[in-house]
Amino acid sequence: MSNNTDTIKLNNDVRMPAIGLGTWRANETGVLAETVKTAIGLGYRHIDCATIYKNQREIGKALKEATVPRSELFIVSKIFQNNHLPERVGPALDEILDELQLDYLDLLLMHWPYALSPDMGHMGFSTSDLDPVPIMDTWRAMEILVESGKVRAIGVSNFNKSILQKMLPQCLIAPAVNQVEVHPYNPEHELVAFCQENNVAVTGYCPLGGGRVSVLRDATVEAIAGAHGCTPAQVLISWQVARGLAVIPKSTSPARLEQNLRTVALSPDDMRAIGQIPTRERKVDPYPEYPALKWVFHESEAECPVI
Ligand SMILES: NC(=O)c1ccc[n+]([C@@H]2O[C@H](COP(=O)([O-])OP(=O)(O)OC[C@H]3O[C@@H](n4cnc5c(N)ncnc54)[C@H](OP(=O)(O)O)[C@@H]3O)[C@@H](O)[C@H]2O)c1
Repeated sequence: MSNNTDTIKLNNDVRMPAIGLGTWRANETGVLAETVKTAIGLGYRHIDCATIYKNQREIGKALKEATVPRSELFIVSKIFQNNHLPERVGPALDEILDELQLDYLDLLLMHWPYALSPDMGHMGFSTSDLDPVPIMDTWRAMEILVESGKVRAIGVSNFNKSILQKMLPQCLIAPAVNQVEVHPYNPEHELVAFCQENNVAVTGYCPLGGGRVSVLRDATVEAIAGAHGCTPAQVLISWQVARGLAVIPKSTSPARLEQNLRTVALSPDDMRAIGQIPTRERKVDPYPEYPALKWVFHESEAECPVI
């Protein structure tokens, strides 16, 4: 098994490495800078960051010491919901660049399709903190950032099909990527097909179940791993890459970082078997904690209030 070096061509011809490093909660052990340096040394070229992970300074330190040219890296970050007002979008990007100590991002995502009031720069908000900023107002401000040269591509995250259907005809620059939770227990068959038909690349987050969804111990996944002499994690990552998705597993363990970069060739039968696993479970869902956000992942029951 060798390192996977596949890339996905985005709708503006920029290439995104198919396997990236997730960094959410990677700072718990205080080894994040070392993890990023190890990952780059092993061959990772795609790093997934976000303002709300509150660890971009440490990642920036590691990037500064990286032994590969900046042009070989694909760095992603996300604008948090308290920065959706158009006049806050540019400064939010500047802050990200300052934290990461970079001149530009390869991809900037709108982290969620809803806004929070400007002083809610952390998780644990209440429903009264929701702010009705239209998605397209934020998106227009992001489109302007592409012209500034500070981002090579822009995209969205946690966007369902019905939001994208309303959004796409209004865009001057269509989202290059939609980053959503994807693993066999939340395969998103319909959303992935819609995105791929519309030239919006999909990045799957929580590809290993995020430490909560038990997909790493799924019997079908384990049986396929046994047949290929690889680990369940490698089966999960290989399945996504074979579907044409990017995937951003998080690990702070050097051995797992190395393992997660090495894919196996799954047969059509393997792909079918994984795609037909019936269990449904997702790690991330703001509803029911916030009933007003039911529409985010339950689009058949509630509609996005402001586009
Ligand atoms: N856009 C969004 O709203 C959003 C939401 C959630 C996540 N994300 C992004 O997606 C990334 C990945 O999601 P995630 O971190 O929640 O979950 P994940 O990557 O699915 O799972 C991470 C967990 O799996 C373990 N792990 C890693 N490699 C393994 C292996 N080979 N075998 C067994 N266990 C392994 C990790 O532990 P060790 O570290 O101990 O190896 C960690 O506990 C995040 O870090 C973040 O960058 C984005």
